[in-house]
Amino acid sequence: MTLNEERSNAVRNTIEAIRNIEAAHGITMKALGQIKLQLIQLAANTEWFTESDFPAPEDSKDTSRVYRISQDAVDNRFALYVQVARSPTDTPPHNHDTWAVITGIRGDELNRFYRRTENGVEQTGSHMVQPGTGVTLLPDDLHSIHIKDEQAVINFHMYGLALECLTERVYYDRKNNDWKIFESDSNIIDASHIVQ
Ligand SMILES: [Fe+2]
Repeated sequence: MTLNEERSNAVRNTIEAIRNIEAAHGITMKALGQIKLQLIQLAANTEWFTESDFPAPEDSKDTSRVYRISQDAVDNRFALYVQVARSPTDTPPHNHDTWAVITGIRGDELNRFYRRTENGVEQTGSHMVQPGTGVTLLPDDLHSIHIKDEQAVINFHMYGLALECLTERVYYDRKNNDWKIFESDSNIIDASHIVQ
């Protein structure tokens, strides 16, 4: 089997396992924990997810690229992305309106977690996503992402529904002390051919 075939099979098998986990348990922290383990296992094959197939952005305006490597054709569910991000990447606190799991392939991605308060948000914890680790978020959970590495950081970001379908995602705008709708992500690059 070639590297491409091996990688394609592994991605397909992982997505199939994840579909089965969700079908069996629904959208719970327990299910997301099992989904995370599947994605940690896939991410351990670091030679399949390098900058040669998933290049980091070169211009200084955009610090991250999101490559779609799998998504169900019928209903846009089970969307798996390889995200490649350079420093400085800092997102505001936001939800996803679907479940989300992030696991590390290369480098450090700091995740901060929040709860809503009357005046905005309060940080409740943090986790550094690195190879072998990950974070899980239910649809209303809030997090922000921070990248300071010199080298581009490579991670899996997986969502219960494709990013472009998430039209109700909100983020907290600190400057205006207001919640705003996330503009749909136009930086997504279709890389599904890489894993077919
Ligand atoms: Fe997020």
